[in-house]
Amino acid sequence: MHYVLDMWMNVILGHQRQNDNNLKNSKCFFMIKNKFHNLGIIVICILHFGCASAQKTISKTVSLRESFKKYFLIGTAINVRQIEEKDTNAAKLIPEQFSAVTPENIMKAEVIHPKWDTYNFDLADKLVAYGKKYNIKINAHTLIWHSQLPAFMRHMKDADSVKQYFTDHIKTVASRYDGKVFSWDVVNEALEEDGSMRKSIFLEKLGPDFVTEAFRLAQQAAPNTQLYYNDYNIEQPKKRAGAIALIKKIQAAGVRIDGVGIQGHWRAYNIPLKDIEESIIEFSALGIKVMFTELDLGVLPNPWDSDAADVNMKAEYSAKMNPYANGLPDSMQTKLTKGYEDLFKLFLKYKDKIGRITFWGVNDGQSWLNDWPIRGRTNYPLLFDRNFKPKPAFDAVIKLKK
Ligand code: G3I
Repeated sequence: MHYVLDMWMNVILGHQRQNDNNLKNSKCFFMIKNKFHNLGIIVICILHFGCASAQKTISKTVSLRESFKKYFLIGTAINVRQIEEKDTNAAKLIPEQFSAVTPENIMKAEVIHPKWDTYNFDLADKLVAYGKKYNIKINAHTLIWHSQLPAFMRHMKDADSVKQYFTDHIKTVASRYDGKVFSWDVVNEALEEDGSMRKSIFLEKLGPDFVTEAFRLAQQAAPNTQLYYNDYNIEQPKKRAGAIALIKKIQAAGVRIDGVGIQGHWRAYNIPLKDIEESIIEFSALGIKVMFTELDLGVLPNPWDSDAADVNMKAEYSAKMNPYANGLPDSMQTKLTKGYEDLFKLFLKYKDKIGRITFWGVNDGQSWLNDWPIRGRTNYPLLFDRNFKPKPAFDAVIKLKK
């Protein structure tokens, strides 16, 4: 430190030293020199700390949240350990990198409403507190979904009981979090691949208008919350047409829908960019925002060569279906990087139409794709590796904003 101080002193007092010769014999020489010395120290301190803080700014963590803040929210799906900040690496990384979170499981009906009159709000309340603490927006997921239903309702025979469950559930849960969460996936995955309504307990017992009804109830219960329809593969032309018809039907009934969530469970080597672009254009033409809500790019072979994300699809394990158990080869890493780069170029092109890009999980080790549709594989679908280190795909995405 002394060395640094002396160095700065030499620079600052350099011109003063030249004049010192003339002053050497003067009585006040030492007094003046002292004055300058003190002044010098002050200047040095300012410069030193100024430089240190400039240094800090330069080496500040490069973040998705910051890089895209002018354009759209960047989110991630989080689990219980992350909400409770028990996953220490994630506890640091999530608030740094993400401006939005979606609870991966804890707001699904099975967890939040396990019995007729029992609601489990503990974890969702913790999530709300977490969002507040870090200024992170919450996309609540999900009110009405045929999957992950509580046992008591899964086998309900009576249509009135289903209707009562449906109404109570939406009213109770959506009103509790109104104004506390930013948005709700009101209805999730109500469509088949051909665009027709999915065969579910809701369709069977309540009829095809149940989607509109869900939004009507949500609108009443949560007037201050954005309301979205969320599904996978709705960038595909047939399913997209089904989603557009569904959205138009909600709008024609005078019910509010604010956005559509394209999940985005794609394969790195097969991203349907043209369909995605057309979908952004067509959905936003309905006057709603487009969100990419569950983005991940799997690198493993799919047994059915499909992008469907139906949690019930399962296949047998074989070593052939788990080719990268010992690491991702450069050729696939490059495809993954290019895939994310292409996607984010597209997202930026349509930034005025897109509200949020959410990754489905924080790091590769925590992705559902390690266990779906085959359990126990090693997948690499996200921007952070198993040690929370940013991957080349992260750099490529960030670079687009530099
Ligand atoms: O919590 C139980 C635990 O108590 C039990 O011991 C364990 C035994 O398997 O299961 C645990 O529950 C699992 C749950 O995740 C929490 O980890 C379920 O089995 C498992 O099926 C469930 O998977 C989730 C899946 O949805 C089904 O809800 C995935 O984590 C989640 O990533 C996935 O997310 C869905 C979206 O909600 C909708 N779009 C598709 C997406 C991917 O499938």
